[in-house]
Amino acid sequence: MKTSEIRQKFLSFFESKGHQIVASSSLVPGNDPTLLFTNAGMVQFKDVFTGKEQRPYLRATSSQRCVRAGGKHNDLENVGYTARHHTFFEMLGNFSFGDYFKRDAIAYAWELLTQVYKLPADKLWVTVYAEDDEAYNIWANEMGVPQERIIRIGDNKGGRYSSDNFWQMADTGPCGPCSEIFYDHGPDVWGGPPGSPEEDGDRYIEVWNLVFMQFERSADGTMTPLPKPCVDTGMGLERIAAVLQHVHSNYEIDLFEALIAAAARVTNTQDLSNNSLKVIADHIRACSFLVIDGVIPSNEGRGYVLRRIIRRALRHGHKLGQTGVFFHQLVKDLAAQMGQAYPELITQQSRIEQVLLQEEERFSETLENGMRILEQALEELPKNGTLDGKTLFTLYDTYGFPVDLTADICRERSVEVDLDGFEKAMEQQRATARAAGKFKAVEGLTYSGAATRFDGYERLSGSSKVTGLYVDGTAVDSVPVGQEAVVVLDTTPFYAESGGQVGDAGQLFTPVAQFYVSDTQKIAAQVFGHQGKVMQGVLRVGDEVQTQVDEARRARIIRNHSATHLMHKALHQVLGEHVQQRGSLVDADKTRFDFTHDAPMTAEQIAQVEEIVNAQVLANQPVQAQLMSFDDAVAGGAMALFGEKYGDEVRVLDIGFSRELCGGTHVAATGDIGLFKIVAESGVAAGIRRVEAITGENSLHWVQHNQQLLQQVAHSLRTAPEGVVGRITALQAQLKELEREREQLQSKLANAAGQDLVSQAIALNGNSHLLVATLTGTDPKALRTMADQLKDKLGSAVVVLSVVVDDKVSLVCGVTKDLTDKVKAGELLSFVAHQLGGKGGGRPDMAMGGGTDVHALPQANASVQAWVVEKLG
Ligand code: ALA
Repeated sequence: MKTSEIRQKFLSFFESKGHQIVASSSLVPGNDPTLLFTNAGMVQFKDVFTGKEQRPYLRATSSQRCVRAGGKHNDLENVGYTARHHTFFEMLGNFSFGDYFKRDAIAYAWELLTQVYKLPADKLWVTVYAEDDEAYNIWANEMGVPQERIIRIGDNKGGRYSSDNFWQMADTGPCGPCSEIFYDHGPDVWGGPPGSPEEDGDRYIEVWNLVFMQFERSADGTMTPLPKPCVDTGMGLERIAAVLQHVHSNYEIDLFEALIAAAARVTNTQDLSNNSLKVIADHIRACSFLVIDGVIPSNEGRGYVLRRIIRRALRHGHKLGQTGVFFHQLVKDLAAQMGQAYPELITQQSRIEQVLLQEEERFSETLENGMRILEQALEELPKNGTLDGKTLFTLYDTYGFPVDLTADICRERSVEVDLDGFEKAMEQQRATARAAGKFKAVEGLTYSGAATRFDGYERLSGSSKVTGLYVDGTAVDSVPVGQEAVVVLDTTPFYAESGGQVGDAGQLFTPVAQFYVSDTQKIAAQVFGHQGKVMQGVLRVGDEVQTQVDEARRARIIRNHSATHLMHKALHQVLGEHVQQRGSLVDADKTRFDFTHDAPMTAEQIAQVEEIVNAQVLANQPVQAQLMSFDDAVAGGAMALFGEKYGDEVRVLDIGFSRELCGGTHVAATGDIGLFKIVAESGVAAGIRRVEAITGENSLHWVQHNQQLLQQVAHSLRTAPEGVVGRITALQAQLKELEREREQLQSKLANAAGQDLVSQAIALNGNSHLLVATLTGTDPKALRTMADQLKDKLGSAVVVLSVVVDDKVSLVCGVTKDLTDKVKAGELLSFVAHQLGGKGGGRPDMAMGGGTDVHALPQANASVQAWVVEKLG
């Protein structure tokens, strides 16, 4: 049974039992910051189990793509060492949301395995949670599994989630006791039954895990019962395929056989049993699917996991002797194997190849050097030594070796690594970077008063009280005129920089003092520091001040900020859902927005984004902000950024067609934004693009400026703006014509010079001639034509022409056909070029080359005659 058939049979079986077939969700869990990657089939149903979400069905089945390469479930290090671990795999599963429970879950599993897949019952073993008599009895009495093949396993093994019979997705989330089904691969394979000391062997392999979901675990460890008991099962497709295809390793199933052959092809490896091929075959799957789901290699979070997997694959390629790029070539083989089940592999093939190739090129520059450093360090280690943290850090920092990559290599040589030392080196570097960095005026201030109340959503001026003053980082009671300081107020309309939006500027007044605010920054989470200078009088703690935000500047900032939200949404529509925000800066001049996408935007795409955003502007919809719970916000479709920390209560901004969580300040209605124009698009890192856009009077000025430029150009071309393109085209044609004429003239000149050269030829014996000449003012490219012409004119001849340009000699050597059996142009040229410290070659009748020793040229020219005469005999 082929893997694809096994997948299909599973889904059809559960469909026939009233289950809804649900498509695999993304490897990047939607809005679930507790989880790095989708690591089980149940992830997309997490909220259905806990009752937060309702679906129109109570039973579901899926084949879910999963990655276990980071976070709670991480198998990266096992890949290549066991017959059954993968970074990427597919999990077949059936789910009950408060519908059936243990009895049906067990009966379905038994029926599928023994009757549909027709596995011999005596090869199957099961485990149950130690205290779960109910499950034990169903297996023993209703399924008829003999008691010696039912094993009770507790949860006392700490951390070993897979074999402790209590399953949880992550540190938090739904969980419950489970019952696992094992297949006995037979006595030829080493290993013992679950719970025995040899259970880690490959003989008894867990193929299916039935989880009886009963609790939700929260961050503090408390377990809350679920509204209704549920069922979540997971069967590794690759493992069941190995069983059904009568092989003992997942890497021998049809799908992997093809991928391993492909890995062997691209690495020129003969030995198909080499473990590195398994690693590469496994990793191309994880990497390709991660790219499909929008992950791009980077130095943090999911991107870093992807980078680590790619680099591990490249290192194994290197181990197989592969020094060039190869990994991306496997995408098409993967698409051939899995494209039917996952059409994205076919539609996105070239995008995936591009991302992987870029990472390959990036790493191959340093892989070789890093390996050399590592080899040397390993050689110097005493037997049973430990690789020091400093070397680990150098490899990481300078050569891009993730620590687990170095550890993987060390493991092959049975060498330990000093991870603590690595962390120390890393911390030291961070400290140095901090010390070198420029501190903002507000950094390091200590303030113990109440939090600042921000009322700048509603107003731009008001009255407040000064609650703190700082000069050069020290708290003071008063600040005199001319002095720079940081002012803290009880209430302020000044927005402090956050979420990409810059801080406000403006003024503070008392009847006697005036303070100019140049920037507003947070001193602590809720404490705003107004940075600036006393322009008049003295400012004291306790003073009542009038606040006044620079309204024109704020207006420009909010136009750019609201436009950013619209642009973000428009980028999603135009480029695709993989677009993720990677950074933004909104100030009075522009909005600068970084996002994941791996090709430059085309002019059409830019125009499309502009059109979409401007249509939203023209619709002039009022902007709405509401406070609500994070869960409600996300359920309502708000875009939340992974990795951002949100409080329980969040501010949801509806701007035209966009809904985002945002604490920034915005326009009242989209029409306030004015003309939206993208003015720059560029790449900032692999897979990350940056656009800059402008709004309001800035875009008006931009248009005016461009208009002026065009007018200047038109003026100097003596035409109207409409005539510019025609005029330039005409000028280009004219230029081309002139260039053609110039070439003609040059060749005429060369001809004339040729006539002159003919007379310089000297006679050899018979009717042959020898011409050796160094020309001036000739383009080296013309030498060859000249030599041909001279050969024609001289009839029977040896011609050696040279010219010196930029301290380099270019040489051409021509020999007429009647002489080539004695004098070979190639040999003669080598003879001459050699004397000039250079080389060259060609056919017997025409050869080209050159040298750098200009001073040797007269001598070399003079040596030709004797050489030729000798050859002619
Ligand atoms: N969620 C369960 C597992 O991953 C089925 O093993």
